[in-house]
Amino acid sequence: MTFNIAGYINSAGRVQVDDLDLDAFVRHPLSAATLRCLRYMSDVESHTVCYLRDVLVTPSHRDPDVTAFMSMWAFEEFWHGEAIDEVLRLHGLKADYEHIRSVRAAQGLKDRISPVLQSVAANTIGEDFVAVHMTWGAINEWSAHAAYGSLIEKEGHPELTKLLSRIQQQETRHLAFYASQARDRLARSRRARALTRWTTQRFWAPVGSTIEPEEETRFVLRHLLGDEAGAKAIRQIDEKVAKLPGMAGLTLVERGVARFGTGARTPAAGPRRKGRPAPG
Ligand SMILES: [Fe+2]
Ligand SMILES: [Fe+2]
Repeated sequence: MTFNIAGYINSAGRVQVDDLDLDAFVRHPLSAATLRCLRYMSDVESHTVCYLRDVLVTPSHRDPDVTAFMSMWAFEEFWHGEAIDEVLRLHGLKADYEHIRSVRAAQGLKDRISPVLQSVAANTIGEDFVAVHMTWGAINEWSAHAAYGSLIEKEGHPELTKLLSRIQQQETRHLAFYASQARDRLARSRRARALTRWTTQRFWAPVGSTIEPEEETRFVLRHLLGDEAGAKAIRQIDEKVAKLPGMAGLTLVERGVARFGTGARTPAAGPRRKGRPAPG
């Protein structure tokens, strides 16, 4: 089914928090483990504009459907970060632009070089690069949706459930766009299928793992996806990826999570490769 881009851009918006009972977090604070996951998630959401920078220097910027979507997508992800930060602050944690600045500063040289390298590689490839970008986005949005779902289940806090369910609803529209674009672009180009299969197998890594300290990624993956329900969620994402044209048989998420010593199977052989930062 074709994604309704006009419907999306006309209804995209800030995730609603004004009607939440925020005092509930003071009366019934969240667990330390949940707060640690929320910090990770906020860091990822707040980094979206940097992912946007990285893809605007590629052929993706030439497609107005893609740029219309991405304008609204970055806006919505920004507000996901702001909403989660509000919850962190209610627990006495520092969650402000100074923190975001420190996360960006920690990216170092890699962050300054990567847009240049990505631009050269992607523009050399041309139009088929967009299929890689769209597939990558779909995998990351499926992952984000599953992670929020797991946190809802694990914490069982009514107000957190309301907030994260609303964020999930927006992630659902994001993944619908990416998946429909990926499906179409992969279906019409053999080169795009080969390129996407090769690139995702070689470079895809769990959302946030390229910007966060490794111990944080390990903690979040173990906490949210380290049990049987998590293994099932991982399999379900891989099944969705495998249904995209040219992606049959891949177990990208299972392998990506296993490289951090968590998830359903033992670490894959070989060194862990750093993936490109990408939207979540
Ligand atoms: Fe988000
Ligand atoms: Fe999203």
